[in-house]
Order: sequence, then structure tokens, then C-alpha cells
Amino acid sequence: MIYFWKIYARVLGLLGTQKSLAWRLSIANIALACALFFEPILFGKIIDELSKIANQTEDRIWESISPLLLLWIGFGLFTIVSSTLIALYSDRLAHSRRHAVMNDYVMHVLHLPMSQLSRTHSGKLMKVMTQGTDALWSLWLSFFREQLAAFVSLVVLMPLAFFINWQLASILMVLCVFFVLLTHSILRKTQKLQQQIENHHTEMATQASDTLSNIALVQSFTRIDAEAKSLSQISQRVLQAQFPILNWWAVVTVMTRCATSISIFCIILLGVWLYSHSLVSVGEIVTFLAFAGLVITRLDQSVSFINRLATEAPRLKDFFDVLDTTPEVKDKPDAIDPGRLVGLVEFKNVSFSYNANISAVNNLSFCLHPGQTLALVGTSGAGKSTALSLLYRAFDRKSGLITIDGHDIEHIKLKALRQNIGVVFQEPFLFNRSIAENLRIGSPDASDEALHEAASCAQALDFIMSQPDGFDTIIGEHGRTLSGGERQRLSLARVFLKNAPILILDEATSALDTPTETSLLKALEAVTQTRTTLVIAHRLSTIRNADVILVMENGKAVESGNFEELMAQSGVFAGMMQQQYGMPNKLNGSTFDRIDNEQLHQ
Ligand SMILES: Nc1ncnc2c1ncn2[C@@H]1O[C@H](COP(=O)(O)OP(=O)(O)OP(=O)(O)O)[C@@H](O)[C@H]1O
Ligand SMILES: [Mg+2]
Repeated sequence: MIYFWKIYARVLGLLGTQKSLAWRLSIANIALACALFFEPILFGKIIDELSKIANQTEDRIWESISPLLLLWIGFGLFTIVSSTLIALYSDRLAHSRRHAVMNDYVMHVLHLPMSQLSRTHSGKLMKVMTQGTDALWSLWLSFFREQLAAFVSLVVLMPLAFFINWQLASILMVLCVFFVLLTHSILRKTQKLQQQIENHHTEMATQASDTLSNIALVQSFTRIDAEAKSLSQISQRVLQAQFPILNWWAVVTVMTRCATSISIFCIILLGVWLYSHSLVSVGEIVTFLAFAGLVITRLDQSVSFINRLATEAPRLKDFFDVLDTTPEVKDKPDAIDPGRLVGLVEFKNVSFSYNANISAVNNLSFCLHPGQTLALVGTSGAGKSTALSLLYRAFDRKSGLITIDGHDIEHIKLKALRQNIGVVFQEPFLFNRSIAENLRIGSPDASDEALHEAASCAQALDFIMSQPDGFDTIIGEHGRTLSGGERQRLSLARVFLKNAPILILDEATSALDTPTETSLLKALEAVTQTRTTLVIAHRLSTIRNADVILVMENGKAVESGNFEELMAQSGVFAGMMQQQYGMPNKLNGSTFDRIDNEQLHQ
């Protein structure tokens, strides 16, 4: 039970930023709930008045009843107007808070580092967000519409019922206690199952989103039936866990209905007995029955609220768990914003591992002066992308030191650090937005001329202009309406537009045909001359002019030097060259001079 109330307290706590409206609505609600108690009293009074004046003339009857009827009309109008206003404002409050909380959730998730996000599927994050905010919204609404009034009614009605007639009220009291014990035991029985259901729902959302985002794969590997079957298996698991809960709540419904009917029957029976002993008037019995009706309605509402809270609690727990995740990569309190950096990049004995057993980057050291180019080469999985992702703090190094312009990067504000680094990722991540919007993500204020220039520099202008709407063409999810090479050129163009002093190019030209790559490399040469550039390349021809080449194997740099030096070593790099271009292992100086890009592309 404490678990449920803790979650509920947090749900209400999220109304905090609109405290004053929430308080006003709560007070209006309490006032309305209290006003509703007068209805049965008024009702009883009219009956008593009628029985007193039963033998009087019609005029006399109307004279006595009219003030009570007018009071009832006034009271009815008041409750209609005030409940409409309360409903209107509580709807507005719940809607606006829902959007605000959704916004906070997205902001929070966007600030979580890749080290945490890569463990969670985006389908799950989406499901947790939509269902969590829906649950919040519906609980806020029912708090203002029903729960508060129900709670106040029960707290006020029960003593009032005892005040009117303690014998009859005792029956109601027994009914209340029965309801509380029943729901308490059902909650205990169903709590674990409810969490299981939610886990299955999450599994289903994750799997559905995974399947939908890989439709091409599913179709080409003829996996449609298999994927559908696996989804239906999850559905089966959901239903298997769901049915016992539904059964339990059906039992609750039957038992509460029976208890209610028995209670009303007992009230009438006891009422008749009390009346026959002149211990109660007919009006009092009528008032009491109306009271009992109110209490029972409120008890019903409370049970369905607890049912809803029990269903929503696991969703809300998942939602709060995401909100409570503290980012592993975050600004230190003394972090600085150094403005635009010059680009002196140094790695000193840097190590990193994704898990305790295997080291992804092992004792890596290099120093790169502003304007210089470093190339990382090596086998797939050697740790090249990981090493460079440490520079823009996708992950934080486990040991060693990474500095830019002498500042430890962990002491630079994350935003400032990332503004200084332009990254062309190994996968060209693109939004389902227009080409122009995709290009402007790093520099929203860039002019149209700058946009054209960056696109032209990335050899992208021709294909952009041939799109139906040019720069305004929407390119589909992950840029699906473009070719691989076109996507890659867009991701290069947006980095050119960002104009950061440090560039990371992770296989930036791997999807391009040779002529396009050659002209792009020429354009890149001009761009990289004034920037510190860190390149990862498998096609070794593209790193011919790098100032330093590091050859990585199993997270370690096994060779370093410039192209000529590495070739002269006849080591791993020279071996790679021979494999790729069939060149002699041992080359003399004059052979180097003859190696140019065109030869290497052969
Ligand atoms: N997010 C991650 N979580 C756990 N392990 C990871 C993660 N990303 C990469 N790895 C592992 O770390 C190692 C280094 O990966 P990395 O992507 O840095 O290699 P790479 O040298 O860039 O390879 P490639 O040339 O194929 O791109 C690999 O063994 C990979 O399986
Ligand atoms: Mg890589």
C-alpha cells in the first residue's frame, strides 16, 4: 500500500509548478463536496415538512414548501455552475502539466549520455513517455473531478451519519471497513502480476518499434510471419498475466455490489424497526438513505480509483525511474566555457572499457597541434570510433587524460565542448525533416548562402537541387529517401556548416564512388587545413597526407608515424597497404613520391 501512496504523492507533487491553481481548484472542490451534503438534508426536511402539514390547505402547503424548493433550485444552480468551472479548469491544468512533464522527460532523456542510452531501446523510452504522461494526466483529472471530493465526502459524511443516527451509521461504517480490507487484499495479490504485465507491454512496444524501424530487413529476409508470431506470443503472455487480475477485480465488483445491497437492506430493516419503536422519523430514514447512497457512490469511486492506480503504478514507476536516472556524463560544478578553442588535442594514456572484462581503448596517447590531421586505422572493432567518441564525451574515459588547448575536457562545459567539435558519424544520422533543417542542426542561424556553400563543398549541391523541393525536400526517417552516399554527403555538409575548430570524420567518405570521393577529399583538404582533424579510414588512400597515423589493434596503438615512416617500418600498416593496393612491403623514398591518390584508388 505504501508503494501506491508514494507513487500517488509524487503524481500530485508534479502539479507543483502550478501550485496556486491546483490549490484553488482543490479548495473549490472541497467546498463543492461539502455543499453536496446539504442535498439529502434538504430532501429530508421537505419530507418532514410535508408529513407535518399533510392535512393543511394547498396554499398553506405551498407556503411552507416554497422556501425549501427555492433553496434547492439555488443550490442546484450553484453546484452545476461550480462543477462546470472546476471541470473546465482542472482539464486545462491537467493538459498543460501533461505537456510540461512530457517536455521535461524529453529534455532529461536528451541529456542522458550514450553510455546509458545505448542500453535502452528508443521504443521503450517512447512507450514509457506516452503511457507515463497519459497515466499522470488521467490521475490528475480524476483527482480534481472525483478523488478529492470522494475523500472529503467520506471524511465528512461518516461523522455526520453518526450524528444523524448512530445505529444506522454503524451499518455504513461496517461497509466502509469491508471495502478497505477487500481492496487492500486484492492490491497485495495483484501487485506483482501488474508489474509483469507492464514489463510485457514494454517488451511488446520495444519489439514492435524495432520491427517497424527495420521493415526493409524484415521484408527481405521474409521475416514478416516470424515477427508477427513473436509479437503475438508477447500478447499471449500479457493476456495470461492479465486474466487473473481481471478475475480478481471482477470478484471485487461482485462483492462490493453484494455488500452494498445487503447494507441498504439492513438500513431499511433497521430503519423500520427504529420507526416502529418511534426512535426515528420517516424524514430521518429518507435522509439517511440518501446519505447511504452518497457514501456508496463515493466508495465505488474510491475502489475504481484504486483499481486505476494499481494499473497505472507500474507505468508511473517506469516513468519516474527514467526521470530519476542521473546522467553519468555531466558538467562538473567548476566546468568552464572556454569559447572557441584553438584545437590542440592531447590524449595521455587514455583507457576505456564498455564492460569490466574487455578494454575498448587501451593506454592511447597522441598529441595533435592546431591544424594537424590524425588518422586512426586498424581492423574492425579495434576501438577507433570509441577512442574518438571519448573526445566529445559520448563516454567518459576510465583513466588517463584528454585535453584540448590544455583544458581537461571533463572541466569544460559539455555544451561548449561539443560546440567546438564537428562530428561526421560512421552512420549518417538524419532527421525526418527537410534537407535545410538537417543541415542547420549545428548552426540554426546559417544563411542560405552558407547552406549552399557547405552543400557544394560536400559535393551535395547537385543532388539536393535535383530533389523535388530542393533544400526543402523532406528526406524520410533516417534519410531513407536518399542513397547511402547522399546521406553521407549531407552529414559532411552539416559539419562544414557548423564550422567547429575540431573535426572528427569517422569513415566520412566510405560510401562514395571514387570520382566523388576524390573531389570531396580535395574540398576536405581546404577545410581541414585550418582545423584539427581526426580521421578514421579503412581506405588508406584517403589518409595519405595525415600528419600522424595511428594503427590500432584491440584498443591499443601498435604503430604510429606519418605515411612514409609507417611504410618504411614494413609493419602492420605496410601489410594493410599491400593487402589493399598490392604494393611492395618495402618501399624506398622514390616509390613514395609516385604514390598519389589516383594510383591508390586503382
Ligand atoms: N555501445 C557499446 N557497448 C558495448 N560495446 C561496444 C559499444 N560500442 C562498441 N562496442 C565494442 O567496442 C569495441 C570497439 O568498437 P568500435 O566501434 O570503437 O570499433 P571500430 O574500431 O570503430 O570498428 P569499425 O572499424 O568496425 O567501425 C568493439 O568490440 C565493439 O563491439
Ligand atoms: Mg567505427
